[in-house]
Amino acid sequence: MSSISTRKKDHIDLTLSETSQYKRTTGFEMYQLKHNALPECGLDDISFKSHLLGREFDFPLFISSMTGGHGEATTLNADIATFCEKFDIPFGVGSQRAMLEDSTHENSFTIVRDKAPNAFIAANIGGAQLIGGMPTYGLKTMINSIKANAIIVHLNPLQELIQPEGDVQFSGILKGIEQLVKHSSVPIIVKETGAGIDSKVAKRLLNAGVKVIDIAGVGGTSWSRVEAARIPSKWDVNLDNTLTYQYEQEMHERFNEWGNSTVYCLESLQELVWERKFEIIASGGIRNAQDMIKARCLGAHFVAVAQPIVRVLKEEGIDGLEKWFSLWRKEAKMVMTLLGVHEWSLLSEEHIILMSL
Ligand SMILES: Cc1cc2nc3c(=O)[nH]c(=O)nc-3n(C[C@H](O)[C@H](O)[C@H](O)COP(=O)(O)O)c2cc1C
Repeated sequence: MSSISTRKKDHIDLTLSETSQYKRTTGFEMYQLKHNALPECGLDDISFKSHLLGREFDFPLFISSMTGGHGEATTLNADIATFCEKFDIPFGVGSQRAMLEDSTHENSFTIVRDKAPNAFIAANIGGAQLIGGMPTYGLKTMINSIKANAIIVHLNPLQELIQPEGDVQFSGILKGIEQLVKHSSVPIIVKETGAGIDSKVAKRLLNAGVKVIDIAGVGGTSWSRVEAARIPSKWDVNLDNTLTYQYEQEMHERFNEWGNSTVYCLESLQELVWERKFEIIASGGIRNAQDMIKARCLGAHFVAVAQPIVRVLKEEGIDGLEKWFSLWRKEAKMVMTLLGVHEWSLLSEEHIILMSL
């Protein structure tokens, strides 16, 4: 069994490969944005002013929780934080479990606040770590280490079930979230890690006092694929051609495409927006500005991106990340112009058509 720190490092390397991504799509391709031949606005009139948890942002893009707890994470977190500070982009650090279990990992998290004194930074912990309640000391350490503006709780039952060292006890997580809401000095966001949160789960979370749901649906990074890629090296090579080996391999493959798509989750959450006041972050396979705008038309307040950020950072460094963001913003402005909509807040289902396939 590997330590949390080694596992987090493996994850970064494995998620860079295309094989870590779902073959199933987000579902955004089922929708077409409505072209407006008479837009009556120009590229420079477009505003992306958006709100999350009462704070105003210039651009509705959140960098999803990814790293922390190992050496390479310190550099990645420092770069992402520098970028987020410069463009006022909110950022969620990776799971702080490793840091809570071994304080030598704290630096890979504290660097985030050093580099981004003003940015919106969210802490991160797994739902499984909340079973039975989180000790007050742990909660304070998690928040204070990065002066967190919010805590993100990640739900990842699929990943835990595939992972050899996974936590496979899930009862008590909702109660743990409810307790966290009561004791935390900052608001709670709950996210999946790529298999999606639909309205039934969202309703239970909102009843527990959660303020923001990050759906993190199918269409991008597949944690089943990532974890499956870690397994063979751990297996006894003598088992290679046995029927049981094959069954186990195929069994994992059957979960590769498991989950609720990002668009299904967004559509499903629509039934709640009339009765509840909460904010939606769309994530899971958001790969370009057109996905971002379609997500807004389907009810999202913000979008979040994970894998493309580490990928561009690892391949092209922080300059590459800035170029990537500037192209994304340019595309977003072009799309808004072609829709004839000058404000992010004005986008709605009126600007999108469901295509018959
Ligand atoms: C390298 C890597 C590490 C991740 N680690 C975490 C984590 O520690 N906590 C968490 O909540 N999600 C984690 N995630 C999941 C992402 O936050 C996100 O929900 C998921 O990857 C789907 O988004 P994407 O399709 O844009 O990658 C990680 C993702 C990546 C790519």
